[in-house]
Amino acid sequence: MKYLIGIDLGTSGTKTVLFDESGKSIASATVEYPLIQPKNGWAEQDPADWWDACVKTLKQVMEKSGISAGDVAGIGISGQMHGLVLLDANGEVLRNSIIWCDGRTTAECAEITETIGAKRLIEISANPALTGFTAGKILWVRKNEPEIYAKARHILLPKDYLRYKLCGVFATEVSDASGMNLLDVPKREWSAEILEKLGIEWEFLPSMHESCEVTGYITAKAAALTGLKEGIPVVGGAGDNAAAAIGTGIVESGKAFITIGTSGVIFAHSDAVTIDPEGRVHTFCAAVPGAWTVMSCTLAAGGSLQWFRNNFCTAEMQAAEGLNKDVYILLDKQAEQVPIGSNRLLFLPYIMGERSPVLNPEARGVFFGLSGMHKRPDMLRAVMEGVVYSQLDCLQVLREMNVPFRQMMATGGGGRSPMWRQMMADVFDCPIVTSGNKEGPALGVAILAGVGAGIYSGIPAACKKIISENEPQLPDKARHAEYGAYYELYREVYGQLKGQFKKLAAL
Ligand code: XUL
Repeated sequence: MKYLIGIDLGTSGTKTVLFDESGKSIASATVEYPLIQPKNGWAEQDPADWWDACVKTLKQVMEKSGISAGDVAGIGISGQMHGLVLLDANGEVLRNSIIWCDGRTTAECAEITETIGAKRLIEISANPALTGFTAGKILWVRKNEPEIYAKARHILLPKDYLRYKLCGVFATEVSDASGMNLLDVPKREWSAEILEKLGIEWEFLPSMHESCEVTGYITAKAAALTGLKEGIPVVGGAGDNAAAAIGTGIVESGKAFITIGTSGVIFAHSDAVTIDPEGRVHTFCAAVPGAWTVMSCTLAAGGSLQWFRNNFCTAEMQAAEGLNKDVYILLDKQAEQVPIGSNRLLFLPYIMGERSPVLNPEARGVFFGLSGMHKRPDMLRAVMEGVVYSQLDCLQVLREMNVPFRQMMATGGGGRSPMWRQMMADVFDCPIVTSGNKEGPALGVAILAGVGAGIYSGIPAACKKIISENEPQLPDKARHAEYGAYYELYREVYGQLKGQFKKLAAL
């Protein structure tokens, strides 16, 4: 029996899972690390923390599984998209990575739009210049930290930094590179036009691959640190969402998923390049060669609930620890006691600014309608409802673009909550299913590794063999109508506050 490993470099931690050829998870390990927020709206992480978590989790899965390192046939890496990792000529990290939910680059994005032209940029990179994306971050460092940029020789995405540490190569793949504003997304190669016009050094960028291509091999040094064997192939892998798509079988037209992780993502497979001319949702290369995806991303979905938990639910966190239970199960129970509409309380989940579909880094979170009668469970349910309304906002754009989907597969931490899933089904008026396989992104990149190592004949064939679906949760028309009235008001509140968010940011 051969084995495959998927490494998923997330925002709250890195999770590594070892699978057998049938896709069964044999051993799994997670190591968490902090998010660094030096200023309101900024978000950074230390690549040393990612590497440390990668080494520890690889070591743990090798030890726990007890398999021989020679039986690992391939490794895939998945990760949070868009982050900027800058290395010097010796491959040393020059500064903390500025990550996907950082909103500091409004001015640089305006500069990129001006330099390339709004229409031309969308034609080439399939997306407008967005604060979360990597190009703006490169320009920001070049302008604000010239002494650091002068030393830069390599530009990498987060998961590609792990590849460099594991294999000693500078390489990336099309799905993750799509989120940099530097890739020609229809052609699946770096855009000479964008690089030249922005003055970004071509030679700083890694080599480009398809997601299931072998990009390098585990070095002797990495093998000694992790318990792996030198020479195991590492495939391109994928950005976390493209990886989750493979790991949940969203590999053909008509299929879609929603992830409530730190971010909130709605993701649909597409056999053609379909672009929203307003740039409210993203078009990226899929991890499936010759296919693309349409995807929305909100910045604080599960992140909003996590923020609420950390700041207002200390007692529940302690109780959960005592009971050895997931705290979110206790929180679901409380939110369930509150009626639809949270007793006339709305929450706008813009605590990190917002990307899809409002594209407003200056937006901030709002509780609207707080009354003396409200208690913490009302606020908790309002947070959960607000997150689902923000996803409906995105879903409506996909519906406008005629991207087909019959049902949605719910994934991520939020997808594990039956209560949150029913809320999604009711609010979206769409059946919600879950996957029989628990490990979305890690399984996705393990499948890619299996294709690269020749264990599977292709991605769709492997998904058919490995991935199963559970029974759907169906929408209820009466509840859909009830939520609908609150959603309408939710949209109005944001519309009314746009100018005030701007003023707040200027204070
Ligand atoms: C996608 C995005 C997030 C991150 C972190 O565009 O920014 O989903 O990949 O998960």
